[in-house]
Amino acid sequence: MLKLSLRSAFRLSVVSFVSVKSLSTTSTRVVWFRDFALRIHDNAALASAILSNDAGIKTRIQPISLFTFPNLRTGGTARDVFTVNALSSLNQSLSGTLKLGMITSDCPRDTAKELIHACRSLNSREIYYLKSQDNIFESELEKILIEHGLCPKTYNGSNTLLDYSTQKIPWKEIIFNDPWRSPLIPFVEFLVERLEKNPATPISSPKGLEMSLNKIDLTNKLFTNPVDVMSIRELVGTSSGGTRWGDGICKKWPASEEKALENLHHFLNTLEANQGEKKVTHLASHLSPYLARGLLSPKLVYEHIQRMKNQVNVSSFLRRICWRDYSMGVCALFPELTNGIPIRSGYEALQNGLENVPVEEKARRLHAWKTGVTGFPLIDAGMRQLDAEGWMPQKVRLACATLLVEGLGLSWRDGMQHFADFLIDFDPAINSNMWQNAGLVGFDPYYVGMNFKRRNYWDEDGCYIRKWVAELQNLPDFVDVPCKTGHKRVDCLYEPWNAPESVLLENNIYLGITYPKRICDERETRSLFFAAARSVRKSWPDEKIDSRKRDLVSLVKGNEPVGMFTPRAIQLHHY
Ligand SMILES: Cc1cc2nc3c(=O)[nH]c(=O)nc-3n(C[C@H](O)[C@H](O)[C@H](O)COP(=O)(O)OP(=O)(O)OC[C@H]3O[C@@H](n4cnc5c(N)ncnc54)[C@H](O)[C@@H]3O)c2cc1C
Ligand SMILES: *[C@@H]1O[C@H](CO)[C@@H](O)[C@H](O)[C@H]1NC(C)=O
Ligand SMILES: *[C@@H]1O[C@H](CO)[C@@H](O)[C@H](O)[C@H]1NC(C)=O
Ligand SMILES: *[C@@H]1O[C@H](CO)[C@@H](O)[C@H](O)[C@H]1NC(C)=O
Repeated sequence: MLKLSLRSAFRLSVVSFVSVKSLSTTSTRVVWFRDFALRIHDNAALASAILSNDAGIKTRIQPISLFTFPNLRTGGTARDVFTVNALSSLNQSLSGTLKLGMITSDCPRDTAKELIHACRSLNSREIYYLKSQDNIFESELEKILIEHGLCPKTYNGSNTLLDYSTQKIPWKEIIFNDPWRSPLIPFVEFLVERLEKNPATPISSPKGLEMSLNKIDLTNKLFTNPVDVMSIRELVGTSSGGTRWGDGICKKWPASEEKALENLHHFLNTLEANQGEKKVTHLASHLSPYLARGLLSPKLVYEHIQRMKNQVNVSSFLRRICWRDYSMGVCALFPELTNGIPIRSGYEALQNGLENVPVEEKARRLHAWKTGVTGFPLIDAGMRQLDAEGWMPQKVRLACATLLVEGLGLSWRDGMQHFADFLIDFDPAINSNMWQNAGLVGFDPYYVGMNFKRRNYWDEDGCYIRKWVAELQNLPDFVDVPCKTGHKRVDCLYEPWNAPESVLLENNIYLGITYPKRICDERETRSLFFAAARSVRKSWPDEKIDSRKRDLVSLVKGNEPVGMFTPRAIQLHHY
């Protein structure tokens, strides 16, 4: 319906095309805002388009953006909901001059087609944009644009601290730095040192933006499928039944550059206020959606961190900002990562989860995981928060991933897809990295085998579980129960299956009725998973494993492989 009416709107508009061309004494520069940098600040493409004024010719800026929406009927993903709001706010910052086109696939060809369409409609050859770190995509796109007579002005390194598409990263040294550690730690050390020598600085905001914007209303006829933010807002976040599931997420995550900056300041102030306390390392900045869609520049974050570092201990926050770069760097090294191609080969037998779990049982477990009824309170809390708010704290994400892969014997791909659909901060590089790691096939499967039932791991006072799993709200934290050796402490809230019947009854909890029985004994299923992984490795030829029993991986196709960090749980018993 929508598509049709928009198409006919475009056909009608062709008639007035001539009048666009007659605006000849002024030239128009197209600035394309990409969905990893929906911002005015630290935007080299926008700033250059404004600055590099040709002598004598008045130039106008026409901001455009493309929204990829493969299926109008499904209501899209949490990320789509956020993106639409971000576009709306960007449009406001651009005095309402943003033009938007909808594409159903974001391959280079379809993207180029719309960009060419927009440039031709404006009689403009120059198109300014920031490049992603995906070299293959960017060079393909640039090639098509040039073939069609356009003159792309591109800028790199905009969504990370370093530019991984052009900078050589000494990965081999980073990996070898300490063979027993995950490369994450040496990478952060490398990056911090590099930044100390050569700080990442955001470019200053352009002056004269307001004056340069193309305010001549051409109505939106720049694209094959032009849309306005208001109309897609109706579509995303609404399920086919008409439920507005996106509204809760919108409320929680206002999508503007101002809000992003406000969150950053608030977070740094909170760090300052809680100096020296243990909980500081648990504090979350809630900046991830802003960083993922580029409403906040990582370089600006870095600059603020530097400014605060004499007053506040920012080391843990800086480290996490560096992890972001790490994911992007790994992606530049393995461009196929975000297409679901595993970094480590040889684990294909585990690709669909454990072989001996029947398909229907897998479907049942996956459904329980997605809907937060696994019977593991921390996991259920996390999955329910994900559903309600599109977000979870890091440690809970790790716990959920670990249960899915190791405890439920399901495929990391299923988890990755669910997170991609439901995370408001969905970032293809980070999400793919984290899920491949959970599935043993990533760059750095560091968290494999973690004990997510330990409450001191994350939610010491149980507040998180009580908030999201309200049916367990009244359960006591710990009780002492008699056992052979005297007494043992049971963590009722974290392990309700071990809680004494009387305690459960007192609180009106009937496992299997008011709250699910745990879906598996995860210690047992986990050992099955590790046994399966070890048996996979056992069948490998010698060339796949180094003398320290680590997986050998080629960092560059055809090059000598290097031994990569491999979890002990699957190294053992390899003969
Ligand atoms: C299975 C799994 C999937 C994930 N998928 C995503 C995703 O799609 N998008 C995403 O942004 N994060 C993802 N993360 C990483 C992390 O959980 C979130 O970045 C973090 O929880 C966001 O909250 P915050 O902004 O308060 O983070 P903070 O802890 O305040 O960290 C600040 C910023 O550092 C970056 N960061 C933090 N942790 C990581 C990490 N492990 N890897 C890379 N960058 C990191 C993020 O940009 C984050 O906003 C995933 C983690 C797991 C375990
Ligand atoms: C941008 O805002 C203007 C003014 O509010 C509006 O007319 C226009 O449709 C908006 N652009 C998009 C792409 O929604
Ligand atoms: C952009 O790429 C060039 C090489 O093409 C490189 O010299 C430059 O450092 C890169 N920019 C950033 C910001 O990293
Ligand atoms: C800062 O905090 C980290 C823990 O996050 C700690 O290891 C480090 O020693 C602290 N640095 C200073 C200067 O206090």
